[in-house]
Amino acid sequence: MQTAHLIYFSPTGTTRKAAEAIAQGVGASKVIHYDLTLPGATFDTVLTEGVAVIGIPVYAGRLPELCLQRLQAIRATRIPAVLVALYGNREFDDALVELRDLSVAKGFDIIAAGAFIGEHSFSTPSQPIAAGRPDAEDLKKAVQFGRQVAGKLRSGNPDTPDMDGHVPYKDRPKFGGKAPQTDVGQCILCGKCAAVCPSGAITVADSVTTDAENCIMCCACTRACDNKARSFTHPWIEEKRAILNKNCAEPKMPEIFI
Ligand SMILES: Cc1cc2nc3c(=O)[nH]c(=O)nc-3n(C[C@H](O)[C@H](O)[C@H](O)COP(=O)(O)O)c2cc1C
Repeated sequence: MQTAHLIYFSPTGTTRKAAEAIAQGVGASKVIHYDLTLPGATFDTVLTEGVAVIGIPVYAGRLPELCLQRLQAIRATRIPAVLVALYGNREFDDALVELRDLSVAKGFDIIAAGAFIGEHSFSTPSQPIAAGRPDAEDLKKAVQFGRQVAGKLRSGNPDTPDMDGHVPYKDRPKFGGKAPQTDVGQCILCGKCAAVCPSGAITVADSVTTDAENCIMCCACTRACDNKARSFTHPWIEEKRAILNKNCAEPKMPEIFI
């Protein structure tokens, strides 16, 4: 296999890690990144050769809306693709089948799919949810999965496997109105929070302002802040975090469909 097209949306980096490990296992001689995470990251392109690895995080059991929009511009002339859904140890619900349907419509032939686990965006040191995932064992499985994909590519079998999920997909809840806040006493106005925000919701001037209506709650800003000035303590999040910490403590294992 000559080229792997690595396409992902990954605010806190776990989707990217798993997708990279899968591409490593596929053994392509060249890996091209299509990072859809930041504003302006649209790749108006048609892929005509190689294999695509398409990775998305699961938001409320679906594809994040921003990621869905940014995926639209990438089309293919029926090249094989591997799908990856990264979820925070709750469920991936209908995210994989939604990604499958979109990818098929964009011209990809889906030959394999996997659901992997990543530290939940809402996880904090005091309320951990799948902390440290994907871990070394997860990444080993991702590489092995990539090797299986390479075997399937060599065999020339183009079949799309069945994968878990339902059509019609579950309802996508409306987010918005809730966002991390800045502790002005700790903030040094360095702008790292704004630089990692996928929706461009953060403005840094004499102070940091966050457009809560545009916030996708990915928590990239809280992780990026070296001074721990950003935190997400809205009561809605605190409640969700506590429920997830309690109900999703049992580690789930990666699932593959090939
Ligand atoms: C708004 C939102 C909704 C989420 N919904 C789910 C979910 O339904 N199930 C789940 O297991 N994890 C859920 N997560 C957690 C992410 O899927 C998980 O943290 C993922 O690893 C993040 O990927 P990234 O590191 O590439 O950004 C959600 C995260 C956010 C921000």
